[in-house]
Amino acid sequence: MTNCIILADVLDGLASLEDNSVHLIITSPPYNLEIPYENHTDNLEYSEYLKWMSLVWKECNRILVDGWRLCINIGENKRQNISFPTFAAFIQQCVELKMLYRGTLIWNKNSAANHTAWGSWNNCSNPHVVPRHEYIIVFSKNNFKLEGDRNLCDLSDEGKEFMEYTRSVWNLGTESKTKIGHPAPFPVELPLRLIKFYSYRGNVVLDPFAGSGTVGVAALQLERIFILIEHSKKYVELMKKRIEKSNLFHSENLKVIEILKNREKINSYK
Ligand SMILES: C[S@@+](CC[C@H](N)C(=O)[O-])C[C@H]1O[C@@H](n2cnc3c(N)ncnc32)[C@H](O)[C@@H]1O
Repeated sequence: MTNCIILADVLDGLASLEDNSVHLIITSPPYNLEIPYENHTDNLEYSEYLKWMSLVWKECNRILVDGWRLCINIGENKRQNISFPTFAAFIQQCVELKMLYRGTLIWNKNSAANHTAWGSWNNCSNPHVVPRHEYIIVFSKNNFKLEGDRNLCDLSDEGKEFMEYTRSVWNLGTESKTKIGHPAPFPVELPLRLIKFYSYRGNVVLDPFAGSGTVGVAALQLERIFILIEHSKKYVELMKKRIEKSNLFHSENLKVIEILKNREKINSYK
């Protein structure tokens, strides 16, 4: 199998993948918070947004190999006085798909951003909670436990990383949008940890909303095979550059496949 970028709408890209063909999915979907993406309007009706996301999780469940894992990164969906319980809705959606809920990691962003939307300053009339964290909700398909070769696991031998990752609060800084050239990248440390914690070397890792390709960069570093789906040509170019810059990468091993609207089947990435 070869590392692969699929330029396509997320549902077309997912439809092109075989049942039981992916071991680990790590993704951060659009949050529906009016982020200025290149060609996605990030302010759908909440119900429409949830319907769309439920179709994505259904496809994710279909293509996961039994026992393998889905990790969804989502923020606290707040707009001024309105809060959408997106994180809770995603858990509900995946549980309804009969996926096994493994728990939630809190990404503590340690962010000292100059946020001043407190609601009522120093007054209990209407104080807002200002999020300094995001969530990573984790599911398994059908089985909690996986047999695998410990020699292909990248957690350090002494158990230090394991101890750190099993604690539910992960302290990780944020990634610079300007440096990466994308409006919402997560830090590479986030997929690096998830890949080490939840997969073995040689496994196939997918990000269906790949953005700047951070999951691909992490997968390469840890000798996993990646599949990245993204519908913006501009971001696909960006992720290609990020991936090609990696010393580990041999360009003949990367395929870029464009799926047009006809949902044609891809077999060539295998
Ligand atoms: C939160 S960003 C992901 C950022 C990524 N984790 C990174 O580190 O760069 C969500 C991405 O989903 C993409 N996207 C939005 N709608 C899509 C669709 N219908 N099909 C495929 N990709 C889509 C956006 O273009 C955006 O790059």
